[in-house]
Amino acid sequence: MDELHETAVLPFLSTHWLGHSYYYAPSIGSTNDTLKEMVAAGSPQNPPAGTVLLANYQEQGRGRLNRQWQSPPGAALLLSVLFRPNWPAERSNWFTMMGSLAAAETIEQIAGVPIGIKWPNDLVVQENGRYLKVAGLLLEGNMDENGRLTSVVLGIGINVNTPSEHLPQAVTPPTSLLITTGKPVSRRELLITFLQRLERYYETAEIHHTSPHALWQKRLVTLGQPVEVTNFKEKVTISGIVEGTDAWGHILVRDVNGELHTIAAGDVTLRGNTTNSH
Ligand code: BTN
Repeated sequence: MDELHETAVLPFLSTHWLGHSYYYAPSIGSTNDTLKEMVAAGSPQNPPAGTVLLANYQEQGRGRLNRQWQSPPGAALLLSVLFRPNWPAERSNWFTMMGSLAAAETIEQIAGVPIGIKWPNDLVVQENGRYLKVAGLLLEGNMDENGRLTSVVLGIGINVNTPSEHLPQAVTPPTSLLITTGKPVSRRELLITFLQRLERYYETAEIHHTSPHALWQKRLVTLGQPVEVTNFKEKVTISGIVEGTDAWGHILVRDVNGELHTIAAGDVTLRGNTTNSH
C-alpha cells in the first residue's frame, strides 16, 4: 500500500473539513484536470469543499503558462485541493498565497530547509547564490455572473524524493528536498502538515477577510531587488526595483523614472548574477 493512500493519511489528519473527502490515484493525467472535471460533472459525485485529489504519478502534469510538470512515480507530492469560497474574484490570488505559505512552512518544519517565494507561484531554496525551484502552484477557478468565485482548484507539486536525473524541466533550475537535504523526506508527513496549515490559513481569511499578503511578502526573494517582469499576454517588459506586493498579490515595481507599476501577472527575472524565475 502506498504511504499516501487514504488509509495511511486520514486517521492522522486533524483538519475540520479539508481533506475529509480524499481521493488517491496511483496514476492520473493531471490532478487539476480531473478535479475540475469532477466539479463540472456535478452530481451525483459532486465533490465538496476541501476535496483533495492526490496522485502518485501524473502523465500530463501541468504548470503555469501551459508548461509541463513531470515527475517519476512515487517521488513528488502531487495534489489538488478544491475550495468553494463564494469570495469576490479579486481574491483569487489569496489561494496561491495561502498555498505557498502553508507549503513553505511545512517544508521548513518537516525537512528543515528555508524556503523563499519567487513571485508569483514558485517555492525556491537558495544554493550558492542561486535560487532553485522545489515546488510550484497552479491555481484554476470558476466565477459566477456576479464575479464571485464558485470553485477554486489549487494544485501543488513538491519535488520531494526526486533524484537529479529525473527533475522536471523548468525555466527556473529545479531541485528536490532529497538533493537539498541529502536524505529522503516523508511525503506523508509533508502532506498531513500541509493540509492542516492550509485549512488554518483559509479559515483565518474566511473569518477576518484579510489578505495573507503581508506574511507572504516577507518570503519574496525579489523584494528590494532589481527585476524584469515580462507579461507575455500584453507583450510588455518592465524593469525596476520590487517595492512590495498589494493585498491582491500583484507585484509593485518602481522603474528608473520613479513610476510605480502594479503588475498582476507575468514572469520575473532577477537582474544581476542570480537566476531566472517564472
Ligand atoms: C508551476 O510551477 O508552474 C505550477 C506547477 C503545478 C504542478 C501541480 S502537480 C499537481 C497539480 N496537477 C497539475 O497538473 N499541476 C499541479
